[in-house]
Amino acid sequence: MSDPLPRRTRRPGSPAHLVPSVVEVSPADTIQRIIAGGLLARALDVFVELGCPQQLAIYGEQSAQELAKRVRAQPRQLATILNALLSDSIVNRTEIGHYVLGMTGQTLLADHENTMLPSVRINAHRLWRAAMDELTDTVRTGRAAVTDAHGGLYAYLEAHPETAALFDWYMESRTRRIAPAVARREFGATVVDLGGGTGHLLAAVLRAHRDATGVLVERESVARRARAYLEEQNIGGRWEVLAGDIFHTIPPGTDYVLASVLHNLDDARAGSLLAAVRDTMTADSRLWLIDMLTPGGSEPHPAHAIALRMLGLFATTERTVQQYTDLLTGAGLWPDRRMQSLPWGLSLITCTIAPPPAGS
Ligand SMILES: C[S@@+](CC[C@H](N)C(=O)[O-])C[C@H]1O[C@@H](n2cnc3c(N)ncnc32)[C@H](O)[C@@H]1O
Repeated sequence: MSDPLPRRTRRPGSPAHLVPSVVEVSPADTIQRIIAGGLLARALDVFVELGCPQQLAIYGEQSAQELAKRVRAQPRQLATILNALLSDSIVNRTEIGHYVLGMTGQTLLADHENTMLPSVRINAHRLWRAAMDELTDTVRTGRAAVTDAHGGLYAYLEAHPETAALFDWYMESRTRRIAPAVARREFGATVVDLGGGTGHLLAAVLRAHRDATGVLVERESVARRARAYLEEQNIGGRWEVLAGDIFHTIPPGTDYVLASVLHNLDDARAGSLLAAVRDTMTADSRLWLIDMLTPGGSEPHPAHAIALRMLGLFATTERTVQQYTDLLTGAGLWPDRRMQSLPWGLSLITCTIAPPPAGS
């Protein structure tokens, strides 16, 4: 039997012009939509790789021929890419068939306040793409062979400074979005950010809490970039950056931050990191866990896509609230049940080493 064609429906008796049209989607259309999503993502990569967003921003409305000349491409082939990006307003087409950068496309500029350029560029990077190409293998073997061949993603980044700079930019672009909400919370005297990247979250916390000091622990190369960033943040000398391994270098503090770190680790490694942090914590200190929570139901959530990326790069995954609760309690930590949703699909869970007092 052939698939039913999508058709427009309206309630009987309703005047057509008052009823929003509903398009029925068949199961085959749904599969087609999923396949198309992957193809459109490639169109986005090409648009960015060719430098189209900048050329459209600099020179404004232009024909496919003019843009093709500027980005050294073929006009008809480029027009196919541009047309694929029309419906999401990445580009818009004028009445005379010229192209302009659309509202969504503006976020592909490096200086946009919510730039998505590093997200697109990291997604298009050959290692990220290779990891996704080998996903079936990862699901079969439980290993991320593409990154394992380099000693893991972070060893690859050590050996490839340009990619490391892109990765740090990508993490910063995410962290900048969540930092204000996290910084508004109450913090104690010493904030320890383990695997704190280039320091954007720590800087935001220290700017908001003038009495607090901060310690960031990172791999040597990232630690160097974090020092350079923190020096420019108008937070005086209230910070220190330690180059080291977060499994072994956990300085004393009142607040410990683990942001987008645990999702890179399998349960055994995540459990031992949490246990090591717990051993350093005192009755008054808190752990701030920031990661995505996979919903228990079937609703769409960004965590599912990022879980696929974790699978490809680390053979790990995002976790549900219950999985985090099990990990945390297994390491002797008490998660506060009031979790905070943050931008970018992230969530914040705070934990203590003793149960919170009743009624708090
Ligand atoms: C996904 S990034 C998150 C960065 C930062 N917390 C943020 O949210 O923007 C994970 C960070 O953990 C660091 N990292 C991973 N394993 C580490 C280890 N064993 N010792 C020190 N840093 C580590 C990486 O260098 C990387 O910067």
